[in-house]
Amino acid sequence: NMEKVPMSKPEPTEFINERYAAMEQRLKVVQKRLNQPMTLAEKIVYGHLDEPETQPLERGVSYLKLRPDRVAMQDATAQMAMLQFISSGLPKTMVPSTIHCDHLIEGTTSPQGDREGFGGVADLKHAMVTNKEVYDFLATAGAKYGVGFWKPGSGIIHQIVLENYAIPGFLMIGTDSHTPNAGGLGVAAIGVGGADAVDVMAGLPWELKCPKVIGVKLTGKLSKWTAHKDIILKVAGILSVKGGTGAIVEYHGPGTESLSATGMATICNMGAEIGATTSIFPFNKRMYEYLVATERPGAAKLAEAFKENLVPDEGCKYDQLIEINLSELEPHINGPFTPDLATPLSKFADTAREKGWPTNLKASLIGSCTNSSYEDMTRSASIARQALNAGIKAKVPFTISPGSEQVRATIERDGLLEVFDKVGGTVLSNSCGPCIGQWKRTDVAKGEPNSIITSFNRNFAARNDGNPATHAFVASPEITTAMAIAGDLTFNPEKDTLIGADNQEITLNSPYGEELPKAGFDPAIFCVYEWVTIRAWIGHKACNNKYLSGVRFVALRMRMRCHPYSRAKGKCTTDHISMAGPWLKYRGHLDNISNNLLIGAINMETNKPNSVINVLTKEEGPVPATARHYKKEGLPWVVIGDENYGEGSSREHAALEPRHLGGVAIIVKSFARIHETNLKKQGMLPLTFANPADYDLVGSHDRLSIIGLKEFAPGKPLKVEGKRPDGSTYEFTVNHSFNDNQINWFKHGSALNAMAKAFEQ
Ligand code: F3S
Repeated sequence: NMEKVPMSKPEPTEFINERYAAMEQRLKVVQKRLNQPMTLAEKIVYGHLDEPETQPLERGVSYLKLRPDRVAMQDATAQMAMLQFISSGLPKTMVPSTIHCDHLIEGTTSPQGDREGFGGVADLKHAMVTNKEVYDFLATAGAKYGVGFWKPGSGIIHQIVLENYAIPGFLMIGTDSHTPNAGGLGVAAIGVGGADAVDVMAGLPWELKCPKVIGVKLTGKLSKWTAHKDIILKVAGILSVKGGTGAIVEYHGPGTESLSATGMATICNMGAEIGATTSIFPFNKRMYEYLVATERPGAAKLAEAFKENLVPDEGCKYDQLIEINLSELEPHINGPFTPDLATPLSKFADTAREKGWPTNLKASLIGSCTNSSYEDMTRSASIARQALNAGIKAKVPFTISPGSEQVRATIERDGLLEVFDKVGGTVLSNSCGPCIGQWKRTDVAKGEPNSIITSFNRNFAARNDGNPATHAFVASPEITTAMAIAGDLTFNPEKDTLIGADNQEITLNSPYGEELPKAGFDPAIFCVYEWVTIRAWIGHKACNNKYLSGVRFVALRMRMRCHPYSRAKGKCTTDHISMAGPWLKYRGHLDNISNNLLIGAINMETNKPNSVINVLTKEEGPVPATARHYKKEGLPWVVIGDENYGEGSSREHAALEPRHLGGVAIIVKSFARIHETNLKKQGMLPLTFANPADYDLVGSHDRLSIIGLKEFAPGKPLKVEGKRPDGSTYEFTVNHSFNDNQINWFKHGSALNAMAKAFEQ
């Protein structure tokens, strides 16, 4: 009998009530079938089943067909997603969807020749000119196909979703790996590639392997310098970068009651760093309050009434259980080069010295989608104020990236930006900036070892500034701010002192913050959602442009002889496969962006990045040029890789590029979930060594044949025959995780081709 509540302000004709009613109906069917207590993850996922009566529901085994409530896309991934959607021929998207312009804005912290001044305002102005073609395309495609468009400067995708679209109990997908951020409001929010987004926007059920559920039981309460971020820094240390693969991490227990909604979002956001499908918190009072503060009291009341379905059942079973007592949790600093290298603050200085990490801190960066809430900003400002009171400023460049214009305008109104400014900070635009390598850094030469600390989520080599010698550490915004003031990576604010302007020693008091602004959020002008009606549809004219091109693949042959692109040595994340930073602007133009294919990966044979011996010419050359040469000569090739290949992001270009340049298979010890699916979607063969030791069997100059594709079937391994240059041969078995539907994608050359074919019929 409750009043009908729209899904969001900009979507007045889509109602939460209807979604909850459908979810309840499905859950009744599933509860009857399972007849056992359910985790929250199961409730949300199974509450969105396409066929609840018949769908097999075995965690970690069955493939589920789901009906997500919405889709979100950021501008770097939306280009390809929209181009693919256009290829489907549908007139409108079938599921509420949005595009967010956040990734393409380059951040500056010092004067540059190419713009007036530096920092947020100058950077945004510059971006509007340099990215015009992409923004125009996204705005007009959004208008034509019914996709909400958030213009540059409005904020970062996950913060905008949290403020406007996240509704407890919803299932959403986003073309960005940190989509799980919305778990802070009880949403099962899953990062996917653009091709998955296309399926959902086209009204097709979306496929996901039935996730396992890892329970994290929280007891106690955070205090002093320990922040929400430290929970996930600790969990990453426990589970490692692939410990969450194939699982939803479900936080529960009395400790969750003391966490803020935005703090829970930070924890869920960074769950991407452990490879988790997503992370989620049960609905609680703090979520209710956040919904009210973001002007959604109707949604808060509905969620309260629906609460039974938004919390786990007593006695539900987790596949793995971790317990953390928040009262005993220390602040942590994770890194360098990997987000799961967790060091407690008390041991960090000694560890840094022992390991030889550069202790002379060069920059300190707060904000991003991970940590830019009002609470984060007030806690960081409480540290900055203490420095100002002692007459000192940040010793190193200190940047603040607000997550949205709503947050930025509010912290400006409440005097926090003034504090950051006075302490020497530079406020960047409301966008990803240095977090995604969009940082025009000038203070350190490429190759120069140096350390930076951020409150971001990811710290792979070269991610922030393109310099592989930069040691990036991840911590809470409070610790990051304290480090900026100390200018020293070994500073421990819990026990070390600083020298004030009057040469007196000062100790920083632990941070203090406000969860939500007392005067409410500033209704920032940028936050107004826009249905763009500008300009005529650019259409396929865009295909000849520098940044945009269409995409279609032909089907691969069923028996393949190929050459291994040698072995990628060690960590090979999507950043290594398809770098971000300056390359982001080519995300809509597959041929142009393919010039960054695997340029970050170390090749086993040459022991260098972006260097491979061309088997046809015997000359050493860059990977993209070599791949193009093989393609021209009709020589398909494969990548041989190590563990957790494709770790990191939902970047589907990491799958599109090898496919475009003639790659046919990626054979590795193990895959990261999203990347494995992306490869399948693009018609590639992601294969895993049945015996991981066979990784060492394949030489860089061997020829491989993949056998068994004519009888390609779920659960049936394939065989690879290898022939060395001396004529000797070997063979090994490779496994795959294709189901029937995915084999159909492969047979058609890509999921998109299969979909277009289905629509034709
Ligand atoms: Fe952007 Fe970094 Fe988040 S790239 S979406 S701010 S993880």
